[in-house]
This record gives sequence, structure tokens and C-alpha cells, in this order.
Amino acid sequence: MQPVNVGLLGLGTVGAGAVNLLERNGVEIARRAGREIRVVRAAVRNPDKTRECATSGIEIGTDCNAVVTDPNIDVVIELIGGDTQAYDLVMAAIANGKHVVTANKHLIALHGNEIFAAADEAGVVVSFEAAVAGGIPIIKAMRESLAANHIEWVAGIINGTGNFILSQMIFEDQSFEDALADAQRLGFAEADPTFDVEGIDAAHKLAIIGAIAFGIPLSFDKIFTQGIRDIDSVDIEYCAELGYRIKHLGIARRGDNGVEMRVHPTLVSQKALLANVEGEKNAIMVYGDAVGPTVYYGAGAGAGPTASSVVADLIDTVRIMSIDPKGRVPHLAFQPDEITDEPI
Ligand code: NDP
Ligand code: HSE
Repeated sequence: MQPVNVGLLGLGTVGAGAVNLLERNGVEIARRAGREIRVVRAAVRNPDKTRECATSGIEIGTDCNAVVTDPNIDVVIELIGGDTQAYDLVMAAIANGKHVVTANKHLIALHGNEIFAAADEAGVVVSFEAAVAGGIPIIKAMRESLAANHIEWVAGIINGTGNFILSQMIFEDQSFEDALADAQRLGFAEADPTFDVEGIDAAHKLAIIGAIAFGIPLSFDKIFTQGIRDIDSVDIEYCAELGYRIKHLGIARRGDNGVEMRVHPTLVSQKALLANVEGEKNAIMVYGDAVGPTVYYGAGAGAGPTASSVVADLIDTVRIMSIDPKGRVPHLAFQPDEITDEPI
């Protein structure tokens, strides 16, 4: 069967992470997807920049439109961020019959309703697992595994940079500014880190969580949003004396009058699970009426974890592309027998 050709918009932290992952696990990924996957083209701002991934075989240029209109490309992965150019490009990709994978919560939170309608109209798939909580499969968990539940509430730490800064202030006595600089250096922060520290990034993610959990339209503008910018080390010390930690939480819950959504710093008992989620890690609790409380934990930012979700969406997309006329999705191929009865 012909390989699936992928065009990348952006080859920064996440884009390079995705190329590395496809390279490293290519054989297993092809087995799971049912077809070989090749990144054939990428658009960036500066094609002369040194990349954090091997680029041989990838045609790198600056023309994003050429990627989304390229007839040889089956799937476009949008990893440039923002909601202006990314919006135009994703809509153009859809209009050109491309499936789309994106990690862009800003784009989905603000324009997802329109993007999904356009994708339905065009008969293509738009996937966005990486847009919420990096490497944690929270979208699939809520949309698939918990699909039988009436979800009552969702609460969690959904911005890795903010959690990293608070953790560094609590445990390493680092200043807010130094911790933010480290988060930027490590590739966790947004291109504009105001989005992280003012709670906007968490609100983008909560809008997506709310839509999936409660079946409501994406409603970013209805979310009460407060960031961590004003938290001082003295606040952290007083909270510790009282047995609490300050955590930046996103909370969405059903009330009698509808769904309430908010992101803000919250005092959490030091004994509680969420209080002990440190660094760039995220954790999300989802309460469903049948299943009760469930928890999803892992890396919420960074190249590898985010690429894990991007490439998983890509594999799903390739499997959907292989649905036969009777609507059958191919089963996952069995691996060669690698079982050993020797102790490892
Ligand atoms: P980076 O800033 O590291 O990379 C952005 C890439 O897009 C760069 O390769 C840049 O080119 C390219 N780019 C930006 N603007 C343009 C443009 N106008 N035309 C062509 N190329 C452009 O961002 P990240 O990889 O960190 O993030 C990408 C997306 O993933 C964002 O939506 C972000 O919110 C999301 N995300 C990021 C996570 C993370 O941990 N970093 C986690 C989850 C989601 P050049 O390299 O030449 O400058
Ligand atoms: N800047 C984001 C964060 C990236 O720190 O959580 C992951 O979405």
C-alpha cells in the first residue's frame, strides 16, 4: 500500500518531537497504522535554523500554503500556534480535503466550532489530543472510554508551565522570573508566555474539556480566568504553614443553571492528590456518574509527551483513512512473537 504523506506546519519543539518519534518508532507505528507514514514537507519561518530532529527527506520551506494545497499530502499537522494564520491554514487544508492534526488549543478553543463544521462538510477528520494536557490521553478518555457516563465535574492542573513555576517556587526557592525562564528553555511555555502565567492557556484547554465532557459548544469567553502572576513566595509560605499548596486549577462542573467553568489559583490540602503533582506534570480528575472519580496524570508539556499525542492522532487518522466501504476499521495488527519465558 502507498505510504501516507504528511505535511508539517511548524518544526519547533513539538514538530521536531513528532519527526523524532516517527523516526524512532516508525516500524511499530506503521504496523499500528496499517501503512507507512512519511513526513515529506514542512513549512517554517526560518528554513536555515538548526532543527532538533533529522530533516533528510523533508522538503523544508517557508510557504505554508504550498503545504496545505500540495496534492501529494494526505494529512497536515499544524504546529505553528496562534489563531490567525493557523486558522486560515487549517481551513485551507480542510477545503483541500486534507485531514488535520493539531496541538493548538488556542485555535480549537476559539474556532473549533467552525473548524469541526467545515471538516464534517468536507468529510475529513480534525484531531487535537495534544491540545489538552500534552501527553495525557484525556480527550480520548472522556470522548471514548467515559462515553457512557453523565460527567458531573472535571478538575485539574492543565498548564505545565504554571505548575512548573509554582513547584520551583515551593521546592527550589526559585523566583517566579527564573522559573519562567527555565520553563521557556525547556520548551514548556507558549511562544507568548503571558498565555501560561495569566491562565489563558488553561482556559483554552478548559473550553475544550468542557465541550467534550458536557457536549456544549466551545465557550472560551464564558470562563472565569485568573493566572499565577501575582503569587508571591510569601503567599506560598503562609499556605504551607496552614497545610495547603497553591495550585492553578481548571474546574468545570454541572450546576442547576448549566455548566460553570473557571481557572484560578486554588488552595489545595497538602494531602490531596493534586497538591502533589509537581513540575510540568498535569493531572485531571473526571467524575462520571457510572465510573465515579477517575484520574489522568502525566507530562503536560514538552517535545516527547506532546509528540506522543500528535502521532497517536496521526495513527488514528491513518486508520480512519483505511475504513472500508462497509465501515470496518482494520484491527490492530499483531506484533511478531516477542514473548520470552526467560526472567527479564
Ligand atoms: P515552537 O515555537 O517551538 O515552534 C513553532 C514552529 O512554527 C517553528 O518551527 C516556527 O518556525 C513555525 N512557525 C511559526 N510561525 C510561522 C509562520 N508564520 N510560518 C511558518 N512557520 C511558522 O512552538 P511549539 O512547538 O512549542 O508549539 C507548537 C504548537 O503546539 C502550539 O500551538 C502550542 O500551543 C502547542 N503545544 C505545545 C506544547 C509544548 O510543550 N511546547 C504542548 C502542547 C501543545 P521557526 O522554527 O523557523 O521559527
Ligand atoms: N504551554 C503549555 C503548558 C504547553 O505549559 O501547559 C502544553 O499545552
